[in-house]
Amino acid sequence: MIVKSIKLKNFRNFEELNIELNSILNIFIGDNGQGKTNLLESIYLCSIGKTFKLNTENDLIKFGQNSFEIEIVINKENKYDKIINISYIKNQKRTVKINGVKLEKSSELIGYMNNVIFTPDDLKIIKGSPIERRKFVNIDISQIKPKYKYLLKNYKKIITGRNNILRDLNNSSNMDVLSIWNDYLIDIGSEIISYRNEYLKNLKHYASLIYADISDNKESFDLSYKCDIGNIENLSKEEIKKLFREKIDKNIENEIFRKNSLYGPHKDDIIVKINNKDFKYFGSQGQQRSAVLAIKLAEIEIIKNEIGEYPVLLLDDVLSELDNKRKSFLIDYIKNIQTIITSTDDSDLKDLVKKNDKKIFNICEGKIVNIIV
Ligand SMILES: Nc1ncnc2c1ncn2[C@@H]1O[C@H](COP(=O)(O)OP(=O)(O)OP(=O)(O)O)[C@@H](O)[C@H]1O
Ligand SMILES: [Mg+2]
Repeated sequence: MIVKSIKLKNFRNFEELNIELNSILNIFIGDNGQGKTNLLESIYLCSIGKTFKLNTENDLIKFGQNSFEIEIVINKENKYDKIINISYIKNQKRTVKINGVKLEKSSELIGYMNNVIFTPDDLKIIKGSPIERRKFVNIDISQIKPKYKYLLKNYKKIITGRNNILRDLNNSSNMDVLSIWNDYLIDIGSEIISYRNEYLKNLKHYASLIYADISDNKESFDLSYKCDIGNIENLSKEEIKKLFREKIDKNIENEIFRKNSLYGPHKDDIIVKINNKDFKYFGSQGQQRSAVLAIKLAEIEIIKNEIGEYPVLLLDDVLSELDNKRKSFLIDYIKNIQTIITSTDDSDLKDLVKKNDKKIFNICEGKIVNIIV
């Protein structure tokens, strides 16, 4: 899948932008604060329906203006173009259209356009808290399994509902109600665990192969799912359910005492290891970046297997900490994947991509000032 063109109007620091992309490699070069990340954010918004920054929708409107609009043309399987249009007027509901037809909910946008993004912030996958890792897995699986998103939404409601029951559990009839909520928790929770287990097995498979290549076979990479209810690696869905129920039955007194749902996929984590040591504590900056890169490239392979096409790869200023060998590995790896790279400096990039089919855009104060084909 490729993005053919991008039109922006009053989005962040872009007053008006209208560009056509190369079907393989696109490089945006500019000093700090010129709009490189903003441009990637507009593509991400069309794919996931949310921004990857912590902003509200009003913050996306160019200062002093009252609305913004994004229009992206994508092409799937070389067959037909689709136009994704997002418009937003200050303090009103966002409108999302596909080929001119309005979507009921903007969450329906997920799945039309797949992307994998890698920003410096993604080092949180290694360095951050378990919440960050669960967030990353949730976004990934939701992109390829529509049911997963729905399960997550239900699971959140179940945790809230169950916590309310645990909070005012003062008579025996409430114990019956609690047991119903336990069933919900175990049913939906086990499904989420199964999806995560399958996804993370795949991710581990591809990421370890890719990391071996990135490091010239000198370092070993491992990724494992630390499921809160126990070791579920080789269990079937039914066996996961059984284990979950045992965990709840054994610890229910504790949950009643703490008045909180303490066990389940909302407590899961992922452990990434290099040469058998936890990466979070022992990886160097460049190694941690390489590990995230391996994970991101693995995501691309999983999406390709699932939907039959490569997603668009967005790399926001992530090359600078990779050594030249790792950079050229990456450039070689993406030769069949539409990629958008941003960087402040093109001196070593230009040499690396000499032979690639590409477009280089120079960006200054929200405007494209020069295009080199
Ligand atoms: N709603 C907005 N309206 C106008 N300008 C905005 C808005 N939101 C952010 N900006 C500005 O956009 C500019 C560019 O931001 P962006 O993050 O895209 O820069 P960048 O080119 O990626 O820089 P860096 O190399 O430092 O990452 C910033 O100066 C910021 O103040
Ligand atoms: Mg930036």
